[in-house]
This record gives sequence, structure tokens and C-alpha cells, in this order.
Amino acid sequence: MTSPRAGSLRIIGLGPGDDAWITPEASDLIAGASDLVGYAPYLERIPAREGQMRHQSGNRVEMDRARLALRLVEEGRSVALVSGGDPGVFAMAAAVFEAIEGGKPAWRDIDVAVCPGISAMQAAAARIGAPLGHDFCAISLSDNRKPWSLVEKRLAAAAEGDFVIALYNPASIARPQRIHDAFALLRGLKSGQTPVVFARAVGRADETISIATLASVDPSLVDMSTLVIIGSSQTKTIARKGKAPFVYTPRGVDP
Ligand SMILES: C[S@@+](CC[C@H](N)C(=O)[O-])C[C@H]1O[C@@H](n2cnc3c(N)ncnc32)[C@H](O)[C@@H]1O
Repeated sequence: MTSPRAGSLRIIGLGPGDDAWITPEASDLIAGASDLVGYAPYLERIPAREGQMRHQSGNRVEMDRARLALRLVEEGRSVALVSGGDPGVFAMAAAVFEAIEGGKPAWRDIDVAVCPGISAMQAAAARIGAPLGHDFCAISLSDNRKPWSLVEKRLAAAAEGDFVIALYNPASIARPQRIHDAFALLRGLKSGQTPVVFARAVGRADETISIATLASVDPSLVDMSTLVIIGSSQTKTIARKGKAPFVYTPRGVDP
């Protein structure tokens, strides 16, 4: 019995919503794959092609999905594993490398590469100006795989370091209180006048963007489709008559 021809695995970012944000490289890799693997809503964004196999899975089974993709590659398939936004930002690329590290030694020889995509924080920032124009950090509020005490520690450190903060996974039905806890913590550490942006479903038909201040904002408006940006002490808004303000963080900080 001969071993199956080694295939390849491409971990592909589809961007946050608008198909115009899918890179030509991602489109080519998807078109050329024998198998597509991904969370169902991401696969639904890709037109069906005859002969191309689809393997869809639920949201909370990232490691199973990563292992399935690696097993398909072992069978000689060329697999496109699709992810929303950028696959390296709170997404499937890390799950694949975790599976490789803990999996069969042969998985380390698999032809695997990551194809970048636009991350939600970039798309959200672009909608309102340039809030990520100076030092920033990204924190996931999900405590599925880390303790909430660590989230609190990182939020406090980000506030102490005066970073602009991008919050991913800010709320879910299972943990509606966390976003309120996060804002309570940040309100105790940062100026109430700090600009805050809620960018919901960016690039999708139901996109909404709202700009407020840390003191005035209502965290209950945040859901799982929202990317939250909280400014640094340098982040500014530029008011405009009859239009939403611009939000930006200057390129430098005076000594
Ligand atoms: C599991 S993370 C995936 C992030 C993704 N890999 C990326 O780079 O954008 C899911 C979170 O990303 C954010 N997100 C993803 N798509 C978004 C969109 N179109 N608009 C606003 N936020 C989005 C939300 O905070 C959501 O809870």
C-alpha cells in the first residue's frame, strides 16, 4: 500500500464581511482547493463549485476542525480552511498550529501556509478614521479558554500603558455581564472623555457604527458581532456638521 500523496493546507482569511475585502490570493486558493473546511457561516460566503467538497462545523469545535483539516491533507487532499477576518487573529491559524504541536509527528511536515485577511479592527478603524494610528493592543473578552482574572489584568495593563484597545468577542448570550465588567474596570482607570467606538457587523448589510465617550457609552448595545475600540489619552474626535465625527490617534506623543 502506498502512502497517500501529501496534500497541502492553506489557512485563509475571508475578511470581516464585504466580499470586496477578500484578497485575490485568498480567492485563488479557495478556487483551487479540493476541500473547504470551516465554520458554516464562513463557508456560506463561498460560492459552491462542482467537485469541491465542503466540511462545515459548529463554532465551538475549533480544535476538531483543525484536526479534520490535517487528516484530509494526510489523505492527499488540498484543503482550504477558511476563517473570518484574519486567520491569525483570534482564529483558526493558532488552532492548527496547536493541533500540529500536539498531534502526530508527521503533521509537522505538512505543507501548511497562512493567507492573511483584513481583521475586524482594521475594517472598523477604517470606517471612522484612524483610531489605531499609534500604539494599540487587541484583547479578546472571551473567557472560554482563559480565566476572567487574566482578562482583567490585561485590560488594566492596557489602560496603564495608555494603549488604544480593540476588544474582540466582547459579549455573548452565555456571558452578557463581561462587557459591563470590562467597562466598569476601564471607567475606573481612564478619562470619561475617552472616545469609544462600537463597530457592529462591519462590511455586512446590517453594519452599524456608533461613536461615544467612555462615560456615556451603553455597553448593553454590544453583541458578539461588535468590535469595540477604546481610545488612548491621545485619541481625538473631529466634529463635522451633519456627519459622524472622525476618530483618530495622532502618530506621535509629545514628550
Ligand atoms: C473569533 S473572533 C474572530 C476575529 C477575526 N479572525 C478577525 O480577524 O477579525 C470574532 C470577533 O471578531 C469581531 N468581528 C468579526 N467580524 C466582525 C465584523 N464584521 N464587524 C465587527 N466585528 C467583527 C467581533 O468582535 C467578534 O466577536
